[in-house]
Amino acid sequence: MPNIENPTEKSLAELGINEPSAVEAEFARVRERFDRQIVLPADEIRNLMLREAWVGSESDPATSLRNFWVGRKSGVLTLITDNWLRKAPPSLKGVVGKQFNELKSHIERKLGEQRQRLEAEADQITLAHDHIDLSLPGVTRPIGSHHLIRQVFQEIEDIFVSIGFSVVEGPEIETPYYNFEALNIPEFHPVRDDMDTFYLDLPKGAPTPLLLRTHTSPMQIRTMEKRKPPVRVIVPGKVYRRDNPDATHSFIFHQVEGLAVDADITFCDFTGTIEYFVKQFFGPGVKTRFRPSYFPFTEPSVEFDVSCIFCGGSGTSAGGGTCSKCKGAGWIELFGAGMVDPAVYGFVNYDAKTVSGFAFGMGIDRLAMLKYQIDDIQVFFQNDVRFLRQFP
Ligand code: PHE
Repeated sequence: MPNIENPTEKSLAELGINEPSAVEAEFARVRERFDRQIVLPADEIRNLMLREAWVGSESDPATSLRNFWVGRKSGVLTLITDNWLRKAPPSLKGVVGKQFNELKSHIERKLGEQRQRLEAEADQITLAHDHIDLSLPGVTRPIGSHHLIRQVFQEIEDIFVSIGFSVVEGPEIETPYYNFEALNIPEFHPVRDDMDTFYLDLPKGAPTPLLLRTHTSPMQIRTMEKRKPPVRVIVPGKVYRRDNPDATHSFIFHQVEGLAVDADITFCDFTGTIEYFVKQFFGPGVKTRFRPSYFPFTEPSVEFDVSCIFCGGSGTSAGGGTCSKCKGAGWIELFGAGMVDPAVYGFVNYDAKTVSGFAFGMGIDRLAMLKYQIDDIQVFFQNDVRFLRQFP
């Protein structure tokens, strides 16, 4: 319901207009009113439309204003056509028509301009919205890092690769043949007791039992089966033993196997290689020594020791007491190794008379614990980020 008087709802006669000048004056008033409204900001237009409510105010203010003035059914221009132009006496028709055309083109031009302005503004807003500011900081996600064991693998690989070794990997599930027999460890050999491990539950009639490898040494066999000498490989990987967990034992741990076989490899090549590795890994200050040992697949077999990294080999701690790490010995046992037992060559069709070589198997967890002064092997497997973050 219109709540203020709207002159365009009446005819000119009803408004008491019967002279051309009065017609012009009335048109001028309408135009003034339009000019006042078209410049209003959106919220004022909305209020105005609600107040006057001559046309629907349900759409946005600019559309309401447009409907109010040029709406086909009851816009001001339609009302003027119906009430003023059509009903004008012949004497005023000319002036009313002329005034109407002027008003109409004025209103349409202004509304057109307004529409363009609003569209440009809307474009501006979308543009601003879509604008990507490359100077803003990005979404930073926490970046992971390599596990310390993986890092130590990498250090060891780098050292051996630099002296001509290549890196190979093998299966963690093995047959007894590769894990034991071909390494000169027959069934019922007592060293199997040290390596008791996890066997897989297989259906009856399976062609061979399977077990989680107890060392990386099976890869010595697999490599020699595939390659003819010269062979120089290292094999990083996981191994499993049925050990009860404590500060130095875990049922899963890591080894790097090494194997070098060629026409004339001597014990000197072997000790020289190990010494080079140990000095690269722990630093030039450490000393190495070897002691006789026993492995069925190496002959002679040795245990390599390094001078204690904690007390510098003196056996005495900084406080004057006995070094707790080497228990006063000044040496720490590092890993087992030896010259490849000729019996092993028989399993891989190498001629034991013409080739010789050495092999070693180091416990990586142990090396990492010594180098980074970690006193519990379990931390490698617990994956506590407070530990992992210390080795980014
Ligand atoms: N495989 C042996 C172990 O796990 C280590 C070793 C490897 C010894 C190679 C000699 C040669 O104890």
